[in-house]
Amino acid sequence: MQEREKGTWKSMAEATQHDFDIVGEWEQEYNAGLVDRLFDQLRMLDEVWTPYPINRYQHSLQSASRAYNDGADEETVVAALLHDIGDVIAPYNHGEVAAAILKPYVSEKTYWIVKHHCVFQGYYYNHYLGGDRLAREKYQHNPYYEDCKYFCHNYDQNAFDESYPSKSLSFFEPMVRRLFARQTGHLELNEYRHDAT
Ligand SMILES: [Fe+2]
Ligand SMILES: [Fe+2]
Repeated sequence: MQEREKGTWKSMAEATQHDFDIVGEWEQEYNAGLVDRLFDQLRMLDEVWTPYPINRYQHSLQSASRAYNDGADEETVVAALLHDIGDVIAPYNHGEVAAAILKPYVSEKTYWIVKHHCVFQGYYYNHYLGGDRLAREKYQHNPYYEDCKYFCHNYDQNAFDESYPSKSLSFFEPMVRRLFARQTGHLELNEYRHDAT
C-alpha cells in the first residue's frame, strides 16, 4: 500500500499551497465521520444509572421523537436529538456546546434555541435549587423567546416519560446525516466573510 503524503513543515508560516491542498483533502474525509463521532458522544449519555426517571440518552431520543411526532421540521428534530450532547464535558453550559456544534448547519433560530434551552428549562426546576425560575424572562423581547419556550415545554421538560414510545437512533440517522451534509466550511464559520465586507 502506498504511503499517503504528509506535510514536512514545522510551522504554518512555512507551509505551501500544496501542503494545504493535502490537508483540505484529508479534512473532507475526516469530516465525513463527524456524524459517527456525534453519535458516540450521544451514546456517552447512555448511563447505567441517573436519578432522572430515564437517562440522558433515552431523554434525547424521546425529545427528538416528540419533536418529530409534533410535526417539527427536520432541523428542529435533529436539534432536539443533540440538544444535550455537551452535557458530558460542560455540565453548566452544555447548551452553548451543543449550539456551537450545530451552528454551521442550522438557522439562527435553531442555534439560539439550543444555546438558551438551559435557561428556559430552569423555569421547571430553578426554584427547587434556590434559583429564579423566571430567569428566562430577560429574553422576553428576543424574537426567539416563544420558540425556545415552546421547544422546552414540548420537547425537553416533558421528555422523561419512561413509557413514551421513542424512536431509535437509527430512525433519526438519515436526518442527522442530511443536516450535517450542509457544509459551510472554515471561511464562513470563522466569519471571514463578515471581516471582508
Ligand atoms: Fe439540556
Ligand atoms: Fe434536555
